[in-house]
Amino acid sequence: MSLNQNSTVATNSIPERESVMYQLTSVTKNYAHKGKTVRALDVAELSIPAGQMVAIQGPTGGGKSTLLQMLGALDRPTSGSITFGGKDLATLRSAQLGTIRAEKIGFIFQNFNLIPTLNAAQNVETALAVNGVDKAGRKERALEALAAVGLADRADHLPSELSGGQQQRVAIARALVKNPQVLLADEPTGNLDEAMRDEVMELLERQWREKNLTLIMVTHDSAVARRAQRRLRIAHGKVTEAK
Ligand SMILES: Nc1ncnc2c1ncn2[C@@H]1O[C@H](COP(=O)(O)OP(=O)(O)O)[C@@H](O)[C@H]1O
Ligand SMILES: [Mg+2]
Repeated sequence: MSLNQNSTVATNSIPERESVMYQLTSVTKNYAHKGKTVRALDVAELSIPAGQMVAIQGPTGGGKSTLLQMLGALDRPTSGSITFGGKDLATLRSAQLGTIRAEKIGFIFQNFNLIPTLNAAQNVETALAVNGVDKAGRKERALEALAAVGLADRADHLPSELSGGQQQRVAIARALVKNPQVLLADEPTGNLDEAMRDEVMELLERQWREKNLTLIMVTHDSAVARRAQRRLRIAHGKVTEAK
């Protein structure tokens, strides 16, 4: 083996978690509201390494959900650049953004967003419908994902037949069944009592660690935020590192 090849091996041995997942540069997002422009986001620079667990806090209306929407490629910034795994999202067409969302990014929300007429397994399967997995494969993976969140015995329950904590666990299974690189969570424990909050947080942390996820979580709850590796604060659209 030549020296050159050795150095290639050394470079490759840097763990993936040290690479950059997101890089934001001069990102703004404006909304038009009653004839006025509202600047919801104004981020000079923000870098999020792959594998990091980040908590985002700040006042209502500060721009937390707007930032998550940008990171999730659900919406485009008004100006500036966001790279995801080194790819500039601004250069991608809507269909390509859709593929990234479907394959690489999982979302969970405060109000779970489950489909009330589908049982737990069917809700989880919806995440795979656009990913070209056949029906039998979808069912199998949905059941595995439910087992991973401790709900193997609730697969045929409707959301209304589950507790809030269980519904959020179904939503987590739905977000993770596609094996995403990133999990974006907007107030995931906001509608849960303390016991269920702890249960959901423990589950999220375990999944983050086991699956080497980048976990970015908006939370009003300082007890939840303290469990993150890094805490950001957003107010008036500006991001600062919180101690
Ligand atoms: N779709 C929208 N249209 C107009 N204004 C919006 C829209 N979404 C958010 N905003 C405004 O952008 C700002 C940031 O909102 P948001 O990101 O939802 O804050 P947070 O999640 O921190 O409460 C607020 O002033 C809000 O009113
Ligand atoms: Mg919000």
